Amino acid sequence: VMAERPLTLADYARLARSGMESATWDFIEGGAGEERTLAANLEAFDRVRLRTRVLSGGGDPDLATTVLGRRWAAPVGIAPMAYHTLACPEGEVATVQAAGAAGLPVVVSTFAGRSFEELAGAATAPLWLQVYCFRDRSTTQRLIERARDAGFEAVVLTVDTPRLGRRLRDLRNGFRLPDGVRPANLPSAGADYSSPADHGRTELDPALDWSVVPWLRSVSPLPVLLKGITTAEDAGRAVAAGVDGIVVSNHGGRQLDGGLGTLDALAEVTAEVGGHVPVLLDGGVRRGTDVLAALALGADAVLVGRPVLHGLAVDGRRGAADVIDILLEELADAMVLTGTRSPAEARPSLLREVRPSLL
Ligand code: FNR
Repeated sequence: VMAERPLTLADYARLARSGMESATWDFIEGGAGEERTLAANLEAFDRVRLRTRVLSGGGDPDLATTVLGRRWAAPVGIAPMAYHTLACPEGEVATVQAAGAAGLPVVVSTFAGRSFEELAGAATAPLWLQVYCFRDRSTTQRLIERARDAGFEAVVLTVDTPRLGRRLRDLRNGFRLPDGVRPANLPSAGADYSSPADHGRTELDPALDWSVVPWLRSVSPLPVLLKGITTAEDAGRAVAAGVDGIVVSNHGGRQLDGGLGTLDALAEVTAEVGGHVPVLLDGGVRRGTDVLAALALGADAVLVGRPVLHGLAVDGRRGAADVIDILLEELADAMVLTGTRSPAEARPSLLREVRPSLL
């Protein structure tokens, strides 16, 4: 008999924490500064409730959706996160297998701990590449070319990281990557990746501007999404610049502390560009009802971050698969119980804000 069978993503978080080195837990879990934005992501979902509609006659809901011409089994993907190998040795290979089994895509980080080719070999659902722009552009270009050759289907440029946020837990812990954890797709010669904070400061391009969009177009034919947009102004500008999609994100509260929770930022973005390009959201998605809330405010899909690492840490590929299954089961429940037959049916009228925002 299992002592404790995890039934929610929160259960997985607790189990993961109890088995993990505390500095590693802090690196995964932490945010920038006082972690107000980290908290705001969760709080925004806690502030909305769903208005149930009964007798819809819908039967089992159809969770499937189409993003950039590809079918996803549900409006959920895996957010790009550095070093899944921190959570379990198989790292991103296990993640890609778990997501593929559920028919969900994975956005693979620039700092993945396993190679693009291994991941492509394990994939049964779309893989996208997340990139940072390095001061040395050729490093970014090589990542894109290599991922494209491996069969990756889109490029997601993270635009909220001209420099790395001040992550106080890591500073206090003097966090360094454990032996054996390194970026499998970046050059090993002459680079020291052991402190993510130091590496980010010296290697990321702090002066990136909108000209990066045509540059990305010039180096690859893949669709380009921008991740880290939280305003209507930037969403409009991104679409004018020709991007193929937007990820509303504050990097899981790891960049600007004091930024809006992503659910609070979503409506202005979908009002501006929804229906023109796919709009995804990440940050604080922990329950099926959170997925439905984001869909109601116009997101085409969400990405899930930390809970997948929790699943990996608890039980490798099986843990990650269980985290995904729980979330999709909860989403199906939420859809049936609100009378929402498909993701496209989710509308703002599904939501009611139960406590006024402070702002
Ligand atoms: C991240 N995130 C991130 N984003 C990105 O574009 N490139 C990256 O390499 C990473 N690395 C990374 C590592 C870890 C440990 C975490 C927790 C997060 C941010 C990630 O893509 C996403 O925006 C948030 O994690 C989503 O929020 P939740 O679901 O974790 O609350």
